[in-house]
Amino acid sequence: MTKTEDRVVAHYGTGGLYDRIMAALAASGVASGDLTPDHLKGVDEFHVGGVAATAALLDQIDIGPETRVLDIGAGIGGTARLIAARYGSEVTGLDLTPEFVDTAARLTRAVGLRARFVTGSALDMPFADGSFDLATLFHVGMNLADKTALFRETARVLAHGGRFAVYDIMRFGADPVFPVPWASGPDTSFLAAPEDYVAAGEAAGLMLTARRDRGEAATDFFAALKARTEKSGPPPVGLPLIMGEGAGVKYANMVEAVKAGGIAPVEMIFQKR
Ligand SMILES: C[S@@+](CC[C@H](N)C(=O)[O-])C[C@H]1O[C@@H](n2cnc3c(N)ncnc32)[C@H](O)[C@@H]1O
Repeated sequence: MTKTEDRVVAHYGTGGLYDRIMAALAASGVASGDLTPDHLKGVDEFHVGGVAATAALLDQIDIGPETRVLDIGAGIGGTARLIAARYGSEVTGLDLTPEFVDTAARLTRAVGLRARFVTGSALDMPFADGSFDLATLFHVGMNLADKTALFRETARVLAHGGRFAVYDIMRFGADPVFPVPWASGPDTSFLAAPEDYVAAGEAAGLMLTARRDRGEAATDFFAALKARTEKSGPPPVGLPLIMGEGAGVKYANMVEAVKAGGIAPVEMIFQKR
């Protein structure tokens, strides 16, 4: 592991996550035997817009039981489980943070779904060439300095005609104030402009076929969450469980930076030539 990767793992892997999630579920009245994938949605889609944002991107792609899917930087497996449940696909989740990989596997077993979770880096994936038909990347590129290497490695593991669906926070202006949900400080935050993603894709033989800027959708999401929280209090099973210490400050810094126009989430879909 590189020094940066060590720091990324230290940022995300705070220890005891599975038990914290299970305790929060129990406190909200969900017994472990009754657990369904939906019960986890408040905590297992660790990106702006949550499960609605996941669906908004996936709805633009043909996915079926025969599609071999790789979720790069799978976190605790929410997106991988959603794809397995909704489309019946064979899904692999890859993540750098061992605690997240372990939590993803345990949660998947707990809800009775099938998906494979592997520890490793997006920049050196432990998969053979052409192993997948679709790769997804939800809020991971911000931790990767070398976008060219990310796209090159993704293109390698995709079959010809395979697609790469990206939903990352990208740079439109000034850096956010740290910490933010994906980084404690600037040494693990590598925000890039949409044009940099497109150039890295082209260099790897991945051509952009669709793009949607989601800054406005993000501010609507933040406003709706604020209104819900003011009315009913914070959700008992929510992202603070995974964001750990300082979750409120990390979230507030991100919201401010999106509102100021310095950063915004962007969807992109690429296809391998
Ligand atoms: C903000 S979380 C998003 C997790 C997940 N995609 C989701 O949306 O719920 C970023 C994830 O990227 C992972 N990550 C960061 N750098 C990585 C790398 N070099 N290779 C693989 N995963 C990485 C982290 O461990 C973390 O799980």
